[in-house]
Amino acid sequence: MDPDIVSHYAMGVEEDRLSTWGRLERERTLDLLGRFLPPAPATVLDVGGGPGVYAVHLARAGYDVHLIDPVGLHVEQARAASAAQPDAPLGSAELGDARALAAGDRSVDAVLLLGPLYHLVDAKDRRRALREARRVLRPGGVLAAAAISRFGATIDGLATEAFRDPGFEAIVEADQRRGHHRNPDVTDRPEWFTTAYFHLPGRARGRGPRRRLRARGARRGRGRRPLPGRSGPLAGGPRAAGSPHARDRARGVRTLLARREPTPARGRPRLSPARA
Ligand SMILES: C[S@@+](CC[C@H](N)C(=O)[O-])C[C@H]1O[C@@H](n2cnc3c(N)ncnc32)[C@H](O)[C@@H]1O
Repeated sequence: MDPDIVSHYAMGVEEDRLSTWGRLERERTLDLLGRFLPPAPATVLDVGGGPGVYAVHLARAGYDVHLIDPVGLHVEQARAASAAQPDAPLGSAELGDARALAAGDRSVDAVLLLGPLYHLVDAKDRRRALREARRVLRPGGVLAAAAISRFGATIDGLATEAFRDPGFEAIVEADQRRGHHRNPDVTDRPEWFTTAYFHLPGRARGRGPRRRLRARGARRGRGRRPLPGRSGPLAGGPRAAGSPHARDRARGVRTLLARREPTPARGRPRLSPARA
C-alpha cells in the first residue's frame, strides 16, 4: 500500500470525520444504503470500512457485518466501536485488502467499497478490487461502491481558502490531468487528503465512451443500475456543523441531491438517519 495513505490514516483523521464536516456524507450514505441494501438480516462485507461508522450502524440495524481495512488503527477503532454496542457487535473486524479478500465465493449479500476504489491509483488494482467484490457476492447481491470526482479537490479549494497556497494549486493541476491526486505534505496538510485516483464523473456514473465503473460489476445477477451521486460538489458542506442553521441546510442539500438521482428511489429508507 502507498506509504502516504498509511501515514495519512495513522494520524487518526477518520475517527470523527463523519460526525463533523462529513456529516452530510454520512447521512446521505445511510439514506442510500437504507434504500439499496437487501433488508436485514443479511451479511455485509465492509471493505475499507475505516473506523467502522457504517459497519456498526448496520450491525445495529440487524445486519451481520464484517469489516476489513489495511490500516491497523482503523481495525482497532472498529473493534472498539463494536465492543461499545455489545448487543449488536460486528461479526468481525480484521486487517485486509480489497484486492485479495479472504471471504469465500458467493458468501455475502452486500459489499461496501466506500474507499478502496479511490485509493487504488492503478486501474488494474481497481479492477482486481471490483472482481473480488463480485466473487464474494451471492447472485442478486448488492455492491455499493464510492468514487471521488476528478473535480472534488477543485471545488473544495474554491469553497475554502486552499487556492491561496500554490502547493494546493499544483495538486489540483495534477488531479485534472490524469486524476492522480498526491499530497506532498501529507502530515502537515492532512486536509489536502492523500494519494488517490479521482474518477471523471461520467465514467463513475456509467456514462462515457469507455468501460465504466458500473459495468465492472455493480450488481451481481440481476442486471446493473447506475450509481446515484452520494454528495456531489457539496461533500464537505455545510462545514459549520455546529451553526444554528446547519441542520436545516443539510436537510435542504439532501433533498436537492435526492432530486438529482438518475435512479428513482427504491423503497423507503430503512436505516435510521444519522444524528444531525
Ligand atoms: C476515507 S476512508 C473511508 C472509510 C469508510 N469506508 C467511509 O466511507 O467512511 C478510506 C478507507 O479506505 C481504506 N483503504 C485504502 N486502500 C485500501 C485497500 N487497498 N483495500 C481496502 N481498504 C483500503 C483506508 O484504509 C480507509 O479506511
